[in-house]
Amino acid sequence: MDKFVVQGGMKLKGTVQASGAKNASLALMPATLLASGEYKLHNTPILRDVATMSRLLETMGLKISRDDHTLTIDSSTITSFEAPYEHVKKMRASIYVLGPLVGRFGQADVSLPGGCAWGPRPVNLHIEGLRKLGAEIELEGGYIRARAKRLRGARIVFDVSSVGATGNVMMAAVLAQGTTVIDNAAMEPEIAALGQFLKSMGARIDGVGTNHLEIEGVDALHPAECVTIPDRIETGTLLIAAALVGDKNSSVRIERCTPSHLSAVTTKLEDVGATLTIGKDFIEIVPPESIRPINITTSIYSGFPTDMQAQWIALMSLAQGMSIITETIYSDRFMHVPELIRLGCNITVKDNIATVVGVNRLTGAKVMSTDLRASASLILAGLAAEGTTEVLRVYHLDRGYEQIEKKLASLGAEIERATGEEF
Ligand code: UD1
Repeated sequence: MDKFVVQGGMKLKGTVQASGAKNASLALMPATLLASGEYKLHNTPILRDVATMSRLLETMGLKISRDDHTLTIDSSTITSFEAPYEHVKKMRASIYVLGPLVGRFGQADVSLPGGCAWGPRPVNLHIEGLRKLGAEIELEGGYIRARAKRLRGARIVFDVSSVGATGNVMMAAVLAQGTTVIDNAAMEPEIAALGQFLKSMGARIDGVGTNHLEIEGVDALHPAECVTIPDRIETGTLLIAAALVGDKNSSVRIERCTPSHLSAVTTKLEDVGATLTIGKDFIEIVPPESIRPINITTSIYSGFPTDMQAQWIALMSLAQGMSIITETIYSDRFMHVPELIRLGCNITVKDNIATVVGVNRLTGAKVMSTDLRASASLILAGLAAEGTTEVLRVYHLDRGYEQIEKKLASLGAEIERATGEEF
């Protein structure tokens, strides 16, 4: 297992390019199950989660090759409709194969994902949505076993806005007979990107990017090509790094990003005191003289993303005062807090609220990654800490950040990957 060794105190400046969005790729790849043939997905990030999804689709018989950041997927060779436990347990997004398999083949056996580091993370909305479309679903032997003749359009109102359930039900509904209406649909850019991709495959969907989707089922779709949208969470993480340890006489510029997907984060960074220049596809940030404490409450898009909550806590740990961080999506997603405290952060958590009192300095230590975004917050705090921070179990970071250490190093950070030992 790898670890990152970070020497704190270096000032960041320069330019980096955003990678493609992990959460978009993980939805686009299974969409290729919906029509037989060859697809090209450009700007696909090179990540562990993408590799896991590739392996899952390969076990189902698909042929996948990668040339730089372009994935070519041939779905004409499908032989199996099963997502086995060994893949799903590594990555919950494996459940995205459920909707397309039921919609096209009327058959899917997908292992139940189970819990994760920060809570139970149910899939009831995926199952209820597909049942509304006419699928018969049983939970048996740890698997979701779904069977259907052709699905029928239905009206679905999600109790909770869910990214995954919206993606799954949308993929199932595009081949259903008749019209499906989804209300309280997720509006996240990654779901909008999936909707656009499905449309380019011949699907008829109105309201892409809104919380009201109307899908007119078609008899068949065709393969397509697409360019994956930039990763807003990676961009936001790099912006926070710059706000924390940027060079005050210079700037950090992130190119090939989509600033409009990040408004909730960039606005808060301005509130903190950073100076931002926002273009069509770039954001430039000059760090604040001192970090103002700013409260955040996570919410569905276009609110402040839960996937940026841990990084915000790292930033607030060096603010001039107290801030309140309220997590509304996953109430116990605070696994990073005990590790941040080891670096000197002053944070208390009660229920779904973290209170962060800014400190004057952090000091390097060995810390353990517990999940993807938690690991990012540890790297950020390590960049700001005095001395050496070792972030163990960086495979969590490799799930969702493409070569984060190289990007940070190119901006001037001292960060190295140490490989080949058991950490
Ligand atoms: C996706 C993202 C993840 C992000 C999350 C919230 C991917 C691959 N992952 O995860 O990075 O943190 O959105 O923005 O895109 N819920 C239910 N029942 C369900 C499904 C969800 O109650 O059947 C609840 C969840 O517990 C949570 C909320 O709905 O409280 C939102 O979760 P959801 O949007 O489904 O998250 P994911 O799609 O798993």
